[in-house]
Amino acid sequence: MNKLSNRIEAIQESATLAMAAKAREFKTRGIDVIGLSLGEPDFKTPLHICEAAKKAIDEGKYFAYPPVAGYPDLREALANKYQKENNVPYKAENFVVSNGAKQSIANTMLALLNPGDEVIVFSPYWVSYDALVRLTEATPVIVKGGIENDFKVTPGQLEAAITPKTKAIIFSSPCNPTGSVFSRKELHDIAAVVLKYPGLLVIADEIYEHINFTGEQVSIASFPGMLDRTITVNGFAKGFAMTGWRVGYIAAPKWIADGCNKVQGQITSANCSIAQRAALAAITGDLGPTHKMVEEYRSRRELVYNLLKEIPGIKTNYPEGAFYFFPDVSSYFGKSDGNFTIKDGDDFCMYMLEKGHVALVPGGAFGDDNCIRLSYAASEKDLKEALKRMKTALAELH
Ligand SMILES: Cc1ncc(COP(=O)(O)O)c(C=O)c1O
Repeated sequence: MNKLSNRIEAIQESATLAMAAKAREFKTRGIDVIGLSLGEPDFKTPLHICEAAKKAIDEGKYFAYPPVAGYPDLREALANKYQKENNVPYKAENFVVSNGAKQSIANTMLALLNPGDEVIVFSPYWVSYDALVRLTEATPVIVKGGIENDFKVTPGQLEAAITPKTKAIIFSSPCNPTGSVFSRKELHDIAAVVLKYPGLLVIADEIYEHINFTGEQVSIASFPGMLDRTITVNGFAKGFAMTGWRVGYIAAPKWIADGCNKVQGQITSANCSIAQRAALAAITGDLGPTHKMVEEYRSRRELVYNLLKEIPGIKTNYPEGAFYFFPDVSSYFGKSDGNFTIKDGDDFCMYMLEKGHVALVPGGAFGDDNCIRLSYAASEKDLKEALKRMKTALAELH
């Protein structure tokens, strides 16, 4: 029978990648599209990291399969980092290095979930959480934080969603797509709910930890009792502009790390050897280039925030991290330029692509169809032009 598995039928193509493909298609037709759809730093990987990769090739020592969990010196360095910077007493044995944080999350889900288990997904959520839970035939339980609360789920909302089937909760902070950052107090209160339920786990995605404008990045694993309950997810793609190198990792209680190793050993054997040597240079080297990028993101956030405020009918929070805005554009639903009527977020993004030549992602893919996601990992010049085009195109809607 020519039919894909139920597991694959149950998940959608990645909306962000789909939008990027559409934008590329417009570009090949000679249309000057400004792409604000991908969560991809527009910076180059810092030089010292690239040099470390070149050196590893020249040394000729890294051509064999690496250990499944990653090179011991890299995992040791990650443990040091978490002890010093995040106040979490992880050891090297707690780390599994994978082909990007995306695979780290997939490994975790495959290692932990059975069909019928429930995973509470804080919404708005990163597109792949929902899909990866479904891939294991577990059930995502979406709990939505509203824009009025900076899109943050409250401890009360979390507790109301817990059932005997709940195995884990998952969220990112700083958050993709909203840019929201949980404060120490907020994370403490979430941890307090989790600790009331024996065995309940937290998958805490910290991949945007460096791009945090609040001045404090808090790991939920650092609270008393949470070390045994947390799978911390992190990676190099965002803070070090290393999306293409594909290095991410989890840190977790040893029994979970062992499970992830088992999955990884069967699926990919290990993460690319040379990319791991580059990652080691990133984690042990100068954070200056990262800090420079972060300052650039901070000034772009101000720019985009001020320009968005000038567009009537757009409601936005003030993102404290990552490099996204997730504005509510629902006041435009039902409006038309005479040819095209915008019914929902998909239509809004399609209108913006066709009319304004700006690529955005519909919020439905992240759990909120009233919103759209705008990535400001783009040059100031492109951002100014894109926001101008948005304003002009929206002014034609009545
Ligand atoms: C919240 C979040 N987690 C994980 C990832 C995946 O990161 P990687 O490129 O390391 O697979 C992304 C990438 O967009 C992300 O936004």
